[in-house]
Amino acid sequence: MHLSLLLLALSSHAVGSAIQIPLVLQSDTTAPVTSIGKELVSSEALQGDIDLKNLEDRANHLFELAKLSVDDYGHPTRVIGSKGHLATIDYIYSTIASLGEYYTISNQSFEAVVGDVFESRLVIGDQVPKSASPMSLTPPTSDKQPVYGPLVLVENDGCDQADYPSHIAGAIAFIRRGTCTFGDKSALAGKAGAVAAVIYNNAKGSLSGTLGEPAEYHVATFGLSSEDSEPYIVDLQRGKVVNASAYIDSIVEKINTTNIIAQSKEGDAENCVMLGGHSDSVVEGPGINDDGSGSLTLLEVATQLTKYRVNNCVRFAWWAGEEEGLLGSDYYVAMLSAEENWKIRLFMDYDMLASPNYANQVYNATNEVNPTGSEELRDLYVEFYESHGQNYTFIPFDGRSDYDAFIKHGIPGGGIAAGAEGVKTKEEAEMFGGAVGKWFDPCYHQLCDTVDNLNFTAWELNTKLVAHSVATYAISFQGFPERSSVESKVLDQTASMWHGPKLVM
Ligand SMILES: *[C@@H]1O[C@H](CO)[C@@H](O)[C@H](O)[C@H]1NC(C)=O
Ligand SMILES: *[C@@H]1O[C@H](CO)[C@@H](O)[C@H](O)[C@H]1NC(C)=O
Ligand SMILES: *[C@@H]1O[C@H](CO)[C@@H](O)[C@H](O)[C@H]1NC(C)=O
Ligand SMILES: *[C@@H]1O[C@H](CO)[C@@H](O)[C@H](O)[C@H]1NC(C)=O
Ligand SMILES: *[C@@H]1O[C@H](CO)[C@@H](O)[C@H](O)[C@H]1NC(C)=O
Ligand SMILES: *[C@@H]1O[C@H](CO)[C@@H](O)[C@H](O)[C@H]1NC(C)=O
Repeated sequence: MHLSLLLLALSSHAVGSAIQIPLVLQSDTTAPVTSIGKELVSSEALQGDIDLKNLEDRANHLFELAKLSVDDYGHPTRVIGSKGHLATIDYIYSTIASLGEYYTISNQSFEAVVGDVFESRLVIGDQVPKSASPMSLTPPTSDKQPVYGPLVLVENDGCDQADYPSHIAGAIAFIRRGTCTFGDKSALAGKAGAVAAVIYNNAKGSLSGTLGEPAEYHVATFGLSSEDSEPYIVDLQRGKVVNASAYIDSIVEKINTTNIIAQSKEGDAENCVMLGGHSDSVVEGPGINDDGSGSLTLLEVATQLTKYRVNNCVRFAWWAGEEEGLLGSDYYVAMLSAEENWKIRLFMDYDMLASPNYANQVYNATNEVNPTGSEELRDLYVEFYESHGQNYTFIPFDGRSDYDAFIKHGIPGGGIAAGAEGVKTKEEAEMFGGAVGKWFDPCYHQLCDTVDNLNFTAWELNTKLVAHSVATYAISFQGFPERSSVESKVLDQTASMWHGPKLVM
């Protein structure tokens, strides 16, 4: 069966017609069908194929696609559900489809929750605390009207129904951050009858995050800084009555959106190197760095790879709904059977590769707390930067991007980034150039994340790094640890404050 298919495919090639039969070839001695006459990929060759001009053209095109959302959103964006995002998915799909027979492409559609807060106001006593900010995916207050009630202090961290006193019914719950997610607190407050909830920070500074997946009892929920909340806590502990009013006009709705997956037809399909970036942006802007840069790098590397033969399967993913809480990658991994999970030898995350005030950030993915192999991948990146005479820093591997579901399901993971909202230190400015005391990406999650927001020096280098990582594992997994489990050995991940770009607890 296998042999006859192969012969059929070879003979159809011999007469020069297009080959339609998706073949999985597992033996090195058989000639790969779509790559007859092609050389085995090498890191040097694939890096040499990276042309900045192609990336630049793609970035300009992506910005045009983001503009398709202007009628509906008033500005360019590629948020899921928008015309800009639908066009982005079309662009990725049609680019891969135009490469002919090299890849098998699939669309994976799933339902995603999106939300928007149009207006909000929190008044406590006779003051409007400056730091009050509505949580993402918060429901509106009842009838989208202001609600009134006394502020009631919840005991402990409000993670247990018993922490909510009975007189919280009809009141506004005042809950300390910590121990469980914002979503859990909101639902427990709602179940106890609170008309709204305010979660105050347990550390310095303001608090904004997301309630995550909607739940039955979620109520309208704000975050508040520790500084703003302190006087009220003191008053409430002294038994004083503090009245408050809360108002949120928002929507939370379900839409369908799509992951795009492209896998090389050749290469050992039992041993795949997988990499991904996210196709969507936040609602606030066009997301050309976040994650236009990573998505386009993947598209360009996928395009250049077709010049070569591979020994191992290469699988590219463009995730949707990353900005809403890693929805696409979570869905993808959740849908994998154990058998399919096992075929993925590692997952490499490429999110934000061209930050204007960049640093070469490598996720500090160690084998100690992540699936074995994560550290070997981390070290591949380190060697890459070192061999290019570049500095690098380690940053936390803490659940803020699409690698999360992979490492929680036993798949080694890692990646690099050029930096988001962190502030560049003096030492980092010495290592990478750029401006001290400013964000790595001053346009992070904003309208100004346009083509002008890209640092092309960083983007070119990081695209070569991606090419290097793909070529390395497409050639061989020799020396790379075997998969050992489809379960997580990550113990402290459940306590992570992040699941995607927003705080969840
Ligand atoms: C997959 O999605 C692309 C892009 O939206 C679309 O053009 C294509 O027809 C879809 N293919 C299938 C099989 O649904
Ligand atoms: C709080 O509101 C209640 C009900 O409207 C009112 O009776 C009470 O006087 C208010 N207390 C304060 C301190 O404003
Ligand atoms: C998503 O697509 C599925 C299948 O086509 C459909 O049954 C479902 O109603 C859609 N959901 C939404 C929110 O449009
Ligand atoms: C990297 O992670 C390991 C633990 O997994 C830790 O010991 C080490 O200090 C971390 N390095 C940096 C630079 O954060
Ligand atoms: C690496 O960092 C050091 C300072 O720690 C700096 O002197 C050197 O120039 C940097 N190298 C590059 C290539 O930027
Ligand atoms: C990229 O960043 C480097 C280092 O900060 C800087 O020297 C260079 O001018 C930047 N290039 C562009 C095109 O922004």
